[in-house]
Amino acid sequence: MPRIVSGMRSTGQMHIAHYLSVLKSYKEMQEKNDCYFFFADLHVLTTGAEKTAEIKNNTLQLAVDWLSSGIDPEKATVFIQSQVPGHYQLYLLLSMITPKGWLERNPTVKDMIRDYNLQDSVGHGLLGYPVLQASDILLYKGEMVPIGKDQRPHLEITREIARRFNGIFGETFPEPKEYLREYPLIKGTDGQKMSKSLDNAIYLSDDEKTIGKKVSRMVTDPEKIRRDDPGHPEVCSVYEFHSVIGDPEKEARTTDCKSGDLGCVTCKKGLSAKLNDIIAPIREKREALLEKPANVWEILAEGNKKANITAKEVWGEIEEKVGLKYY
Ligand code: TRP
Repeated sequence: MPRIVSGMRSTGQMHIAHYLSVLKSYKEMQEKNDCYFFFADLHVLTTGAEKTAEIKNNTLQLAVDWLSSGIDPEKATVFIQSQVPGHYQLYLLLSMITPKGWLERNPTVKDMIRDYNLQDSVGHGLLGYPVLQASDILLYKGEMVPIGKDQRPHLEITREIARRFNGIFGETFPEPKEYLREYPLIKGTDGQKMSKSLDNAIYLSDDEKTIGKKVSRMVTDPEKIRRDDPGHPEVCSVYEFHSVIGDPEKEARTTDCKSGDLGCVTCKKGLSAKLNDIIAPIREKREALLEKPANVWEILAEGNKKANITAKEVWGEIEEKVGLKYY
């Protein structure tokens, strides 16, 4: 079975766009691959090492989102990055063979510096973000990595590091291939990309009322003011959202919106109901899991154990190849 490795930074809860794009693809992958899925809590430190107070709870929230969305710890190894010492170990070794020019050129790190306003305080750790990511992948000899487009430069560096390591110390790591997620961009309630920081997201924990409220505030066609004004579905984010999540009534919706037979309020109520149908079962499982967080930590502890077994094996081979095996 091909080995897949993928992580997500523990920065808190997931929204519906994450679910539809990332979690659904994880779910498919775990059926036919040997998957290592983890919470990248160490990567969170690269943009704010002093903000550690929330990391544990953020990891818990993320874990609960994954488990209630159908990521199955029986099928995939689900674990916490910081609980596998191999990530720290390999990071140091790989940093020795990574030219700093590769890191300084990395456009995704540059974007992070801009987005987090870190121009005057770029740490060694942030520059090393892609090296840590390479360690995550190579520690398990990952062959495929599911990522979004913004992560491509990181994966390119992982491949270059693998090639360089193999060149210096002998064939050890496969060069991991990308598994690009193909999904339409999902917009938030304000029409921009759905994102936690823009406060326009619908969360997997939102209750029916909250979903309804958020959807009712969404912007539709600005020219459709009265219920029976003819609308322009092509500029309406409610219409688009219907389509993205699958719209069996697409044809009728298009004609009825254009003719003025379908009002925005009704159309939005339909969208809220559909979103709630997707979210409700997840939300219920979330709540049940959160009643006993100890059980969630226990599940992750099992995953950590499994990940450590593979990591130790590969680490042994690395020590041998590098010439640091003393005993
Ligand atoms: N950088 C990734 C992101 O922000 C998270 C990540 C960390 C990751 N390590 C990884 C993804 C290894 C894939 C493989 O989305």
